[in-house]
Amino acid sequence: MDVSTAVDQRISTRAFLPDALSEAEVRDWLNKAQRAPSGGNVQPWRTIAVTGKALEDVIALGGQVLGADPRGQKTDRPIYPKDLWEPYEARRRRVGEMMYETLGIPREDRPARLAWFANNFRFFGAPLALFIVIDERMGHGQWGHTGMYLQTLALLAEERGWGTCMQECWGMMRPALKEHFKLAPTEMIWCGMAVGKPDKSHPVNTLRAERASLEEMAELHGF
Ligand SMILES: Cc1cc2nc3c(=O)[nH]c(=O)nc-3n(C[C@H](O)[C@H](O)[C@H](O)COP(=O)(O)O)c2cc1C
Repeated sequence: MDVSTAVDQRISTRAFLPDALSEAEVRDWLNKAQRAPSGGNVQPWRTIAVTGKALEDVIALGGQVLGADPRGQKTDRPIYPKDLWEPYEARRRRVGEMMYETLGIPREDRPARLAWFANNFRFFGAPLALFIVIDERMGHGQWGHTGMYLQTLALLAEERGWGTCMQECWGMMRPALKEHFKLAPTEMIWCGMAVGKPDKSHPVNTLRAERASLEEMAELHGF
Protein backbone atom coordinates (compact mmCIF):
# COMPACT_ATOMS: atom_id res chain seq x y z
CA MET A 1 0.00 0.00 0.00
CA ASP A 2 1.41 3.41 -0.91
CA VAL A 3 1.38 6.29 1.56
CA SER A 4 -1.24 8.31 -0.35
CA THR A 5 -3.66 5.39 -0.25
CA ALA A 6 -3.06 4.83 3.46
CA VAL A 7 -3.64 8.53 4.24
CA ASP A 8 -6.72 8.70 2.06
CA GLN A 9 -8.42 5.55 3.24
CA ARG A 10 -7.76 5.96 6.98
CA ILE A 11 -10.90 6.91 8.82
CA SER A 12 -11.85 6.72 12.45
CA THR A 13 -13.17 3.15 12.63
CA ARG A 14 -16.03 2.89 15.11
CA ALA A 15 -17.13 -0.73 14.70
CA PHE A 16 -14.78 -3.71 14.75
CA LEU A 17 -14.77 -7.45 14.20
CA PRO A 18 -13.81 -9.42 17.32
CA ASP A 19 -10.86 -11.18 15.59
CA ALA A 20 -7.87 -11.08 17.94
CA LEU A 21 -4.53 -9.62 16.82
CA SER A 22 -1.56 -11.75 17.80
CA GLU A 23 1.20 -10.56 20.09
CA ALA A 24 3.73 -10.96 17.26
CA GLU A 25 1.64 -8.76 14.93
CA VAL A 26 1.17 -6.13 17.60
CA ARG A 27 4.86 -6.11 18.53
CA ASP A 28 5.87 -5.72 14.89
CA TRP A 29 3.39 -2.85 14.43
CA LEU A 30 4.54 -1.02 17.57
CA ASN A 31 8.18 -1.53 16.64
CA LYS A 32 7.69 0.02 13.21
CA ALA A 33 5.78 2.98 14.67
CA GLN A 34 8.84 3.83 16.73
CA ARG A 35 10.19 5.48 13.55
CA ALA A 36 7.76 8.38 14.15
CA PRO A 37 9.69 11.66 14.37
CA SER A 38 9.81 13.91 17.41
CA GLY A 39 11.56 17.19 18.17
CA GLY A 40 15.07 16.48 19.48
CA ASN A 41 14.26 12.78 19.02
CA VAL A 42 12.88 12.95 22.53
CA GLN A 43 10.15 10.35 21.72
CA PRO A 44 7.97 11.68 24.52
CA TRP A 45 5.43 8.84 24.39
CA ARG A 46 4.94 5.48 25.99
CA THR A 47 2.32 2.94 24.95
CA ILE A 48 0.27 0.45 26.92
CA ALA A 49 -1.39 -2.20 24.73
CA VAL A 50 -4.28 -4.20 26.21
CA THR A 51 -6.23 -7.15 24.91
CA GLY A 52 -8.23 -10.08 26.35
CA LYS A 53 -8.75 -9.93 30.10
CA ALA A 54 -6.66 -6.74 30.41
CA LEU A 55 -9.03 -5.05 27.95
CA GLU A 56 -12.10 -6.30 29.79
CA ASP A 57 -10.68 -4.92 33.04
CA VAL A 58 -10.32 -1.42 31.57
CA ILE A 59 -13.84 -1.57 30.15
CA ALA A 60 -15.14 -2.58 33.59
CA LEU A 61 -13.21 0.28 35.18
CA GLY A 62 -14.81 2.68 32.69
CA GLY A 63 -18.23 1.37 33.68
CA GLN A 64 -17.49 2.01 37.35
CA VAL A 65 -16.01 5.49 36.95
CA LEU A 66 -18.47 6.85 34.39
CA GLY A 67 -21.39 5.00 35.99
CA ALA A 68 -20.66 7.01 39.13
CA ASP A 69 -20.45 10.30 37.18
CA PRO A 70 -21.03 10.38 33.40
CA ARG A 71 -19.28 13.78 33.22
CA GLY A 72 -16.06 11.94 34.08
CA GLN A 73 -13.29 12.81 36.49
CA LYS A 74 -12.00 16.33 36.95
CA THR A 75 -9.17 17.31 34.64
CA ASP A 76 -7.13 20.45 34.13
CA ARG A 77 -6.64 19.41 30.50
CA PRO A 78 -10.09 19.41 28.93
CA ILE A 79 -10.48 17.84 25.49
CA TYR A 80 -11.31 21.19 23.84
CA PRO A 81 -10.58 24.75 24.95
CA LYS A 82 -13.48 26.41 26.75
CA ASP A 83 -16.04 28.01 24.41
CA LEU A 84 -14.45 26.66 21.25
CA TRP A 85 -14.68 29.39 18.61
CA GLU A 86 -15.37 29.43 14.90
CA PRO A 87 -14.63 27.88 12.52
CA TYR A 88 -13.59 25.07 14.86
CA GLU A 89 -16.84 24.69 16.76
CA ALA A 90 -18.82 24.39 13.51
CA ARG A 91 -16.47 21.64 12.27
CA ARG A 92 -16.79 19.75 15.52
CA ARG A 93 -20.59 19.94 15.40
CA ARG A 94 -20.72 19.04 11.73
CA VAL A 95 -18.82 15.75 12.10
CA GLY A 96 -21.01 14.82 15.06
CA GLU A 97 -24.17 15.53 13.07
CA MET A 98 -22.84 13.54 10.12
CA MET A 99 -22.05 10.59 12.36
CA TYR A 100 -25.49 10.50 13.98
CA GLU A 101 -27.13 10.91 10.59
CA THR A 102 -25.15 7.92 9.30
CA LEU A 103 -26.35 5.97 12.32
CA GLY A 104 -29.96 7.10 11.84
CA ILE A 105 -30.09 8.69 15.31
CA PRO A 106 -32.05 11.97 15.26
CA ARG A 107 -30.83 15.09 17.08
CA GLU A 108 -33.64 14.97 19.66
CA ASP A 109 -32.94 11.35 20.66
CA ARG A 110 -30.42 12.26 23.33
CA PRO A 111 -30.52 8.85 25.11
CA ALA A 112 -29.63 7.09 21.83
CA ARG A 113 -26.80 9.56 21.20
CA LEU A 114 -25.43 9.04 24.69
CA ALA A 115 -25.74 5.27 24.31
CA TRP A 116 -23.73 5.46 21.10
CA PHE A 117 -21.11 7.68 22.77
CA ALA A 118 -20.77 5.07 25.52
CA ASN A 119 -19.43 2.66 22.86
CA ASN A 120 -16.23 4.66 23.10
CA PHE A 121 -15.69 3.09 26.49
CA ARG A 122 -15.94 -0.40 25.01
CA PHE A 123 -13.46 0.57 22.28
CA PHE A 124 -16.29 0.08 19.77
CA GLY A 125 -15.83 -3.69 20.10
CA ALA A 126 -12.15 -3.63 19.11
CA PRO A 127 -10.02 -6.58 20.28
CA LEU A 128 -7.02 -4.34 21.05
CA ALA A 129 -6.63 -0.96 22.72
CA LEU A 130 -3.67 1.30 23.18
CA PHE A 131 -3.20 3.93 25.83
CA ILE A 132 -0.72 6.63 24.98
CA VAL A 133 1.15 7.89 28.02
CA ILE A 134 2.95 11.22 28.24
CA ASP A 135 4.86 12.86 31.09
CA GLU A 136 2.84 15.71 32.58
CA ARG A 137 5.93 17.92 32.53
CA MET A 138 6.06 17.84 28.73
CA GLY A 139 5.00 20.99 26.88
CA HIS A 140 2.76 21.64 23.89
CA GLY A 141 5.59 20.70 21.52
CA GLN A 142 5.86 17.19 22.89
CA TRP A 143 2.07 16.70 22.81
CA GLY A 144 2.27 17.59 19.12
CA HIS A 145 5.12 15.14 18.58
CA THR A 146 3.04 12.45 20.22
CA GLY A 147 0.43 13.20 17.57
CA MET A 148 3.04 12.20 14.98
CA TYR A 149 3.27 8.88 16.74
CA LEU A 150 -0.50 8.41 16.71
CA GLN A 151 -0.76 9.06 12.98
CA THR A 152 2.18 6.76 12.28
CA LEU A 153 0.40 4.01 14.19
CA ALA A 154 -2.81 4.68 12.26
CA LEU A 155 -1.13 4.55 8.84
CA LEU A 156 0.82 1.40 9.65
CA ALA A 157 -2.46 -0.12 10.83
CA GLU A 158 -4.04 0.65 7.43
CA GLU A 159 -1.23 -1.24 5.73
CA ARG A 160 -2.14 -4.26 7.86
CA GLY A 161 -5.85 -4.07 7.02
CA TRP A 162 -6.62 -2.85 10.54
CA GLY A 163 -8.73 0.12 11.50
CA THR A 164 -8.08 2.55 14.34
CA CYS A 165 -9.99 5.14 16.30
CA MET A 166 -7.99 7.60 18.35
CA GLN A 167 -9.87 8.23 21.57
CA GLU A 168 -9.18 11.28 23.68
CA CYS A 169 -12.43 10.52 25.54
CA TRP A 170 -10.35 8.32 27.84
CA GLY A 171 -8.99 11.57 29.25
CA MET A 172 -12.35 11.72 31.08
CA MET A 173 -10.98 9.15 33.53
CA ARG A 174 -7.31 10.01 33.71
CA PRO A 175 -6.91 9.63 37.48
CA ALA A 176 -8.54 6.17 37.47
CA LEU A 177 -6.42 5.00 34.53
CA LYS A 178 -3.27 6.37 36.14
CA GLU A 179 -3.94 4.26 39.20
CA HIS A 180 -5.06 1.22 37.18
CA PHE A 181 -1.87 1.14 35.09
CA LYS A 182 0.35 2.19 38.02
CA LEU A 183 1.83 5.08 36.07
CA ALA A 184 4.80 6.97 37.47
CA PRO A 185 3.80 10.03 39.56
CA THR A 186 4.46 12.47 36.69
CA GLU A 187 2.88 10.36 33.95
CA MET A 188 -0.61 10.69 32.52
CA ILE A 189 -2.77 9.00 29.89
CA TRP A 190 -3.16 11.36 26.96
CA CYS A 191 -5.24 9.34 24.57
CA GLY A 192 -6.59 5.89 23.79
CA MET A 193 -6.76 4.06 20.49
CA ALA A 194 -9.13 1.28 19.47
CA VAL A 195 -7.53 -1.15 17.02
CA GLY A 196 -8.74 -4.14 15.05
CA LYS A 197 -10.22 -5.34 11.81
CA PRO A 198 -12.99 -2.95 10.74
CA ASP A 199 -16.57 -4.19 10.55
CA LYS A 200 -17.18 -3.06 7.00
CA SER A 201 -20.87 -3.91 7.19
CA HIS A 202 -21.50 -1.32 9.94
CA PRO A 203 -22.92 2.00 8.66
CA VAL A 204 -20.73 4.08 11.01
CA ASN A 205 -17.67 2.99 9.05
CA THR A 206 -19.04 4.57 5.88
CA LEU A 207 -18.66 8.04 7.39
CA ARG A 208 -16.12 10.11 5.53
CA ALA A 209 -15.58 13.25 7.58
CA GLU A 210 -15.26 16.45 5.57
CA ARG A 211 -12.17 18.61 5.47
CA ALA A 212 -11.73 22.33 4.97
CA SER A 213 -10.57 23.30 1.49
CA LEU A 214 -6.97 24.02 0.65
CA GLU A 215 -7.93 27.69 0.10
CA GLU A 216 -9.17 27.89 3.68
CA MET A 217 -6.18 26.10 5.13
CA ALA A 218 -3.08 27.04 3.18
CA GLU A 219 -1.22 30.08 1.94
CA LEU A 220 1.21 29.59 -0.89
CA HIS A 221 3.84 32.25 -1.43
CA GLY A 222 6.53 32.76 -4.04
CA PHE A 223 5.37 30.25 -6.65
C1 LIG B 1 -6.22 12.73 19.09
C2 LIG B 1 -7.59 12.34 18.61
C3 LIG B 1 -8.54 11.96 19.53
C4 LIG B 1 -9.82 11.54 19.13
N1 LIG B 1 -10.73 11.12 20.06
C5 LIG B 1 -11.91 10.58 19.66
C6 LIG B 1 -12.80 10.00 20.61
O1 LIG B 1 -12.59 10.03 21.81
N2 LIG B 1 -13.91 9.37 20.15
C7 LIG B 1 -14.22 9.32 18.80
O2 LIG B 1 -15.24 8.73 18.44
N3 LIG B 1 -13.40 9.91 17.89
C8 LIG B 1 -12.26 10.51 18.27
N4 LIG B 1 -11.39 11.06 17.36
C9 LIG B 1 -11.73 10.98 15.93
C10 LIG B 1 -12.08 12.31 15.31
O3 LIG B 1 -13.39 12.66 15.63
C11 LIG B 1 -11.87 12.17 13.79
O4 LIG B 1 -10.50 11.98 13.54
C12 LIG B 1 -12.36 13.35 12.99
O5 LIG B 1 -13.74 13.54 13.14
C13 LIG B 1 -12.04 13.16 11.50
O6 LIG B 1 -12.59 11.95 11.02
P1 LIG B 1 -11.70 10.79 10.41
O7 LIG B 1 -10.69 10.36 11.44
O8 LIG B 1 -12.69 9.70 10.10
O9 LIG B 1 -11.04 11.33 9.18
C14 LIG B 1 -10.15 11.53 17.75
C15 LIG B 1 -9.18 11.95 16.82
C16 LIG B 1 -7.92 12.35 17.24
C17 LIG B 1 -6.91 12.78 16.21
